[in-house]
Amino acid sequence: MPRTSEAILPRIIVDDVHKDFKLRHTHSIKETFVAAIKRKPLTTDFHALDGITFEIGEGEAVALLGFNGSGKSTMLKLISGVLTPDQGKVLTRGRVAGLIEVGAGFHPDLSGRENIYLNAAILGMSKKETEARYEQIVAFSEIEKFIDTEVKHYSSGMFLRLAFSVAIHTEVDVLLIDEILSVGDEPFQRKCLARIRELHSQGKTLVVVSHDLGMVTSLCERGILLRDGKVLFDGSSADAVAAMRA
Ligand SMILES: Nc1ncnc2c1ncn2[C@@H]1O[C@H](COP(=O)(O)OP(=O)(O)OP(=O)(O)O)[C@@H](O)[C@H]1O
Ligand SMILES: [Mg+2]
Repeated sequence: MPRTSEAILPRIIVDDVHKDFKLRHTHSIKETFVAAIKRKPLTTDFHALDGITFEIGEGEAVALLGFNGSGKSTMLKLISGVLTPDQGKVLTRGRVAGLIEVGAGFHPDLSGRENIYLNAAILGMSKKETEARYEQIVAFSEIEKFIDTEVKHYSSGMFLRLAFSVAIHTEVDVLLIDEILSVGDEPFQRKCLARIRELHSQGKTLVVVSHDLGMVTSLCERGILLRDGKVLFDGSSADAVAAMRA
């Protein structure tokens, strides 16, 4: 329910955002040379995001929906600051934690323990704060046995366990989750979802990307549907799923 006396402050503002990627048309040096001589374009611009505008308020849980290649991961990377827009603005308020790619933000040659400190530092925690929460982080991840192993030997699920565990034990205001939960086994997924719901009930802002439409509609009240880099629908998550299937 929108409250008139106490306006909900925005956490994320995405204003007319464009992101292009280059598509290559040549496969070899010879082809590149021939194309250059013939003055044929070597690449064309592909509009991954083509004028996206939306605002996400404090405490909202939003599902970012769309088929493969519609621009969801690109959008999350722009919100997390991993990518910058070619045009338009992305503004965020507060600490943003992104669980976007399996293994992203980890240094392969460092152990799980060292990566906990590294990740927590990236999320703005001091060494002391991390030390105080270290035991809890490891306990939630359930990978104590491998904590001193270099993470290059970790499985996808182990990366998820550590990244998720660090993110939820830091003081984040916005949590971005891209499909990464799907590499967790069922018990861990259930534990993560319970924790995500808890964070939502504490007023944290969530943006979730998943092809598990049942899960995201139950978790998120709002859905933003992307198609070909544009916003096709923005409303209730149930209606967004219906629009996706239409
Ligand atoms: N670094 C890049 N270089 C070139 N093209 C890219 C790059 N990143 C994304 N793209 C292209 O942008 C489009 C959108 O990709 P994106 O990963 O955002 O889709 P998505 O909605 O997350 O899809 P999925 O459901 O498969 O995860 C795709 O066509 C993809 O090929
Ligand atoms: Mg994606």
